[in-house]
This record gives sequence, structure tokens and C-alpha cells, in this order.
Amino acid sequence: MEANVTDRVLSDDIEDVIVSEEQIKLRVRELGRQISEDYRGKDLMLVGILRGAFVFLADLIREMGISVETDFIAISSYGSASTTSGVVRILKDLDDDIADKHVLIVEDILDTGLTLNYLIKNLSSRRPASLEICSFIVKEGKQRVPIRLKYSGFTVPNTFVVGYGLDYAQMYRNLPFIGTLKRSVYEDDAIL
Ligand code: IMP
Repeated sequence: MEANVTDRVLSDDIEDVIVSEEQIKLRVRELGRQISEDYRGKDLMLVGILRGAFVFLADLIREMGISVETDFIAISSYGSASTTSGVVRILKDLDDDIADKHVLIVEDILDTGLTLNYLIKNLSSRRPASLEICSFIVKEGKQRVPIRLKYSGFTVPNTFVVGYGLDYAQMYRNLPFIGTLKRSVYEDDAIL
């Protein structure tokens, strides 16, 4: 009998670990310290992009020693399969006003850059005091539009990765590391 999806051991589906739990912890700590230093004395608002960035953002704020506000925006760019449509849509807007605040967008991964390109335009029209980006992962050689990152965690090869907030068909977000999937997991899907 075929195993039910809820019986699945997620780590069994992983081919390679690209960024380990230990590496993630150390890098998030460094980023939290750096951001705290850079924004000391300023009204900082972290804007997490749902859904993927919630894991990174939750860890990041706990490594920050300064007072910080958080808000979330939900954007559609990927369905359950994994190709960028280029069409970006706001599914849930920010709850708070960002005018005159120092805004740092917190993203899980920079891939084509289409999502961030759209968000920068959209959020800068709301007149923040400053607008910068922190993307935990940067995918090498995939950007279709130039995006300037103030902070980033790791650069990974141009391949599909899951874990630490990143999903495939809404699964694997809760893996504490970042890795690639075994081919058998997405065999029937056009993943790249
Ligand atoms: P972009 O607009 O192409 O830069 O795509 C950004 C979004 O696509 C991210 O916030 C992720 O949700 C998703 N994404 C891009 N690459 C991957 C990946 O390798 N694994 C999981 N999600 C990804």
C-alpha cells in the first residue's frame, strides 16, 4: 500500500543538504547583529514576504537586539509547481502604514527577482524613510531583473531547493536545513 502523505518522513526525500542547520544558525545570528547595528536608533519595520519568509524572519528577529516592528505581505508568484509566471499579485497587503519608517523587506530566496522588483515599486510608492532588502538565499545566475540586496545569507547553485521556509507543493517548509529534492519526488512535475 502506498504511504499516506502524512506518514512521510520529509528528510527521506532530500538528495543533498546545501546549507546545514548549523550554518543557518550562525549566519542568521550574524545578520541579526549586523542589522541591529545598522538600524540602531531608527524606526525599523521588517516586512516578511509570505509564505516562505516566516521561518527566517522568526529566527532573525530573535537575533536582533533593537526594537523592531514586523508586518507581512503575501504575494503569489509560484503555484504548487515551480516555474515563475512573471505575474505578481498581492494576496494579503500590509496591515500597517510604512510612511516615514525604515523598511527592510525579508525574503526567503531571490530567484528571478520578479517578486522583489514588483514589491520595491509597490512599497516605495508608500513613502518609507528607506527601503532595503534582506534575502536569506540568492540563487546563482537566475536573476532576470537587477535587484540590489543590502543583506543576504547564502548563495546557492541554480537548482530548486526546499527547507527553512521554502516549499515544494507546500511541503518541506519545516525542514531545519536547505536541500535539494530527490528526483523521484518531482518526477511527474516540470520542476525547473
Ligand atoms: P522570484 O520572483 O522568481 O525571485 O521568486 C521568488 C519566490 O519564488 C520565492 O519567494 C519563493 O517563494 C519561490 N522560489 C524561488 N525559487 C525557489 C526554490 O528553489 N524553492 C522554493 N521556492 C522558490
